[in-house]
Amino acid sequence: MNTLTPSSRIGGFHKLAVAQRIERVAQFAGLSAEDQAQLAQTGNLPAETADHMIENFVGTMNIPMGVATNLRIDGRDRLVPMATEESSVVAAVCNAARQSYDAGGFVTSMSGTQMIAQIQLTGVSDPQHARVRILERLDDIRAMCDACDPVLVKLGGGFRDLEVRVLDTRGGAMVITHLIVDTRDAMGANAVNTMAEKLAPHIAQWTSGTTNLRILSNLADRRLARARCVWPLDAIGGAAVRDAMLSAYHFADADPYRAATHNKGIMNGVSAVVLATGNDTRAVEAGAHAYAARGGRYASLTAWETTARGDLAGTIELPMAVGLVGGATKVHPTARLGLKILGVSSAEELARIIAAVGLAQNFSALKALATTGIQKGHMALHAQNIAMMAGAVGGEIDRLTQVLVAKGLVRMDVAEAELALLRQA
Ligand code: MEV
Repeated sequence: MNTLTPSSRIGGFHKLAVAQRIERVAQFAGLSAEDQAQLAQTGNLPAETADHMIENFVGTMNIPMGVATNLRIDGRDRLVPMATEESSVVAAVCNAARQSYDAGGFVTSMSGTQMIAQIQLTGVSDPQHARVRILERLDDIRAMCDACDPVLVKLGGGFRDLEVRVLDTRGGAMVITHLIVDTRDAMGANAVNTMAEKLAPHIAQWTSGTTNLRILSNLADRRLARARCVWPLDAIGGAAVRDAMLSAYHFADADPYRAATHNKGIMNGVSAVVLATGNDTRAVEAGAHAYAARGGRYASLTAWETTARGDLAGTIELPMAVGLVGGATKVHPTARLGLKILGVSSAEELARIIAAVGLAQNFSALKALATTGIQKGHMALHAQNIAMMAGAVGGEIDRLTQVLVAKGLVRMDVAEAELALLRQA
């Protein structure tokens, strides 16, 4: 045993006051007084609030929130808050939206606000019989689920449908029950998980099997957000640009290696809005990637075509489990502000806007990649980060950024040397 390594076994860490926790971490990691002061600075999320959001809270991780401009969605102009650490993500949405604004912008729709909860049943020798026995209980199941959440039912949501599948697995046949629940303006995880847990013992009893997992599915394919948009040929720079962008899409749709990056770009936009509104980025990301693989091969979340007039038409469709109530959407003061800036009054409205942002993001990435390449725009913004990392402050940041971009050398060693020269001058 290395006696120099401090122990991570800290009993009762969660019971300590925040300042004491910071002190313990400082002892463990050798943090300076300045480091500790940095941790204690929680910005626009009060420590008392944050301390109730997660366990063992010691600090916040602020990332920039920008606002995407130029978006016209379903005939209404929107400013869309985006929280991201990646330079160029907000600019990409603004650019794509500007190029479609005069032609009318984005049109969006949604398949519904239904979530799926799964109940896993094992140990039945007659899975087909068990499946039908569960289906026969539709009315009982509906009543039990709705009784779990009378408020949701009052708001027009509640149990909607029942699906039961027999699944062939490495561990033998399983009977998987899907509770399909309209969760309205809630993301719905709590609502459907409660229903699944309530129902599971009954399913076990009706079938003489054993229930195991009771949890929502993040493949929320009954909650699909869709957006479409036409970019006029003139606005994007002509047929050669359009065809190069189409070819880039064809590549992504045919090749999972490219599709992963193509969809990552889409999620740059999607996750930034999901985060700025206090929603669950991982839930939306898991749903998106699972949906992208629904055909048995991972493919593009967007589709790109040429209209009869020769313009470029883009479409996106992806699961979008976001809510306006519950979780960080209500607790985090900046998330509440994000929703206020957006001016949305339903989870559906939010989901549709996010789909439009995902499509806009993909447009800009394809256009940049198919024309000048991604590095030109990226580097201009990246240069600012390098300038700050090299120690530039105040007006030096812009001056040094310009020098780095002009030289075409966005590197730390160059930044340090150029900063020294600027300071001498
Ligand atoms: C970078 O974060 C995102 C892109 O790689 C997306 C793409 O390649 O389509 C530019």
